[in-house]
Amino acid sequence: MALVTGSEDYLIGGSLKALLLLFAFTASSHVWGHGGEDHSKDVKQPKVVKPNVEIEEKYIKINQEYIKTVKPIFKKSCFDCHGNTTVYPWYYKVPGVKQLIDDDVNEAKSHLDFSKDFPFISHGTPIKDLDAINKSINNESMPPFRYQIMHGDKKLTKDEIKQIKKWIRESKEMLK
Ligand code: HEC
Repeated sequence: MALVTGSEDYLIGGSLKALLLLFAFTASSHVWGHGGEDHSKDVKQPKVVKPNVEIEEKYIKINQEYIKTVKPIFKKSCFDCHGNTTVYPWYYKVPGVKQLIDDDVNEAKSHLDFSKDFPFISHGTPIKDLDAINKSINNESMPPFRYQIMHGDKKLTKDEIKQIKKWIRESKEMLK
């Protein structure tokens, strides 16, 4: 578990580094792009799209906390529908049930997909996603009741709710 978390952190750190590297290369391409001659004085400077490093760093921090405290909870209670690690129950093979579960998973993932960590894959912004999760927790709509009937142990405990809400609060504070 610790190993997996570490490698995920590394990947995220790695992608930011790659972005910075790309930026550095693009910025300096006018120098070495012409056989080493410096044309910077007579050639128009190429337009460089600067990555928003500040917001990327915030996402990385939020994601580190997510992986540490919230992801294990989501893995237990949400990933069957909002992730790519669906564990299908034995009754998946019962006629008619397969369609119901497939529809549920497709519908859930079209709204919010947790399979790539934070920021989540969704049709909203990261802040909107946090708000939507907060709302689903407050009105106890997730995981759906029909799912809880079959999986009593997937209901969120009071302590888990506290942890998720704390993470959302702190993340929103950072993104303000
Ligand atoms: C049995 C499948 C299932 C499980 C398990 C499940 N969801 Fe959902 N979820 C859905 C479906 C289906 C929708 C879309 C329809 C709806 O909103 O009811 C949805 C919608 C949502 C939305 C609304 C997204 C939006 O764009 O407004 C949020 C937020 C959400 N789920 C969070 C969670 C969280 C957090 C968990 C775990 C605690 C969870 N869900 C567990 C099926 C599931």
